[in-house]
Amino acid sequence: MLRAASRAALPAAFAVVVSAPLSAQQVKQPVGIEACAPCHGYDGIAKDVEVPHLAGQNVVYLYNQLRAFRTGERKHKEMRYMSRHLSAKELEAFAEYYASLPRI
Ligand code: HEC
Repeated sequence: MLRAASRAALPAAFAVVVSAPLSAQQVKQPVGIEACAPCHGYDGIAKDVEVPHLAGQNVVYLYNQLRAFRTGERKHKEMRYMSRHLSAKELEAFAEYYASLPRI
């Protein structure tokens, strides 16, 4: 599923850079995004220097980081807490949403 999605996301991201209106290329906001937005923003641009921007990041990378936080393989207290109750489908939805946003 994710592999197919990531391949599909590439031409879409390219189209954003080239010409298409940004909003038309973005993935709909997933349920629960309001839990992430205080730190990462709805636009994937963090306000705090300690928080990474997620906008336009590779979808597979984002998904893998979320999984690693959830298992504790990548150690971070807040992100572990945020991801521990999320299903693989939810992690995928967050990764696809943030990956679809325009980079700064
Ligand atoms: C309390 C603030 C906070 C909240 C809420 C939060 N994050 Fe994070 N997030 C962080 C911080 C800080 C890091 C950097 C972790 C590190 O230093 O390893 C991070 C890292 C990440 C990364 C890895 C980025 C990278 O470049 O490696 C992803 C993906 C991510 N968060 C997604 C989410 C999602 C999805 C949610 C909502 C379910 C969320 N975060 C909620 C603070 C937060």
